[in-house]
Amino acid sequence: MSSLRVLILGGAGEAAELGRRLAGDERFAPVLSLAGRTRAPSLPSIPHRVGGFGSVEGLVRWLSDPGADLLICATHPFAEQMRRHAVEAARRARIPLLMLERPAWVPQPGDRWTKVVDMAAAARALGSRPRRVLLTIGQKDLAPFAAVPHHHYVVRSIERPSAESLPPSVELISARGPFDEAGEQALLRQHRIEALVTKNSGGDATAAKLAAARALGIDVIMVQRPAAPKLDGVAVDIVTDAAGALAWLAARHELASSRRGV
Ligand SMILES: NC(=O)c1ccc[n+]([C@@H]2O[C@H](COP(=O)([O-])OP(=O)(O)OC[C@H]3O[C@@H](n4cnc5c(N)ncnc54)[C@H](OP(=O)(O)O)[C@@H]3O)[C@@H](O)[C@H]2O)c1
Repeated sequence: MSSLRVLILGGAGEAAELGRRLAGDERFAPVLSLAGRTRAPSLPSIPHRVGGFGSVEGLVRWLSDPGADLLICATHPFAEQMRRHAVEAARRARIPLLMLERPAWVPQPGDRWTKVVDMAAAARALGSRPRRVLLTIGQKDLAPFAAVPHHHYVVRSIERPSAESLPPSVELISARGPFDEAGEQALLRQHRIEALVTKNSGGDATAAKLAAARALGIDVIMVQRPAAPKLDGVAVDIVTDAAGALAWLAARHELASSRRGV
């Protein structure tokens, strides 16, 4: 039978990992889709496209032309809109959807976490006493911290944030994970950090900062994940890593082959 066409909505490391595993696998014709936020993304050697589809309608059109038999949503857990669009587009296009969702981090003994629902709550949770704060929340959610300018901020992100979103007292660090615990402890010590603000992204690549904060007794303001999209009327499977996604694809391929009697 011909290859199954798979659209992978990327943005998380697992999407690139899945792409690497699919490269050269003739059972599938994958395309990796990226929003285009990162200037030099690390790409697997499979076809890719860059940029939004033009809302759900655009994604539904893409699923019919160029076309896909299967949709995998492997965006970052905080890419709430794209995840909603994936569910809605799969429902309208009537194609199977797999959500690839890495597990959230959970607090360990010794952690000093304050869980908050969004970035505005994280900014408020820093309190009225001026503190030295490490922000590892990407470059696009910084505005709430400009509203609490009495803290000193160290912002670590892959892409440089735009100047107008920044609080007045700020240092910028440009870095891409994975990070290790020794390096994270050194960073926290060097900048005399008293509180760390992070999203609950989960995964190993950026978990070392949590271990470092635990070891040094530093407060962590943990922004909880947005609610998962409603799955009414859509057949959605969920896996937590690239290996799980590959197993799902293999099962789908077997099913398609047996239906076509190949
Ligand atoms: N939010 C985070 O904390 C975070 C962290 C690391 C990486 N990322 C990645 O960065 C990208 C943007 O994040 P976001 O939070 O701005 O997403 P978002 O709010 O969920 O999505 C905004 C819009 O960006 C476009 N888009 C998002 N992912 C896309 C993809 N894989 N392929 C094509 N278009 C895509 C879509 O535009 P249209 O409506 O025009 O189709 C979507 O409606 C995502 O791919 C996400 O996985 C996000």
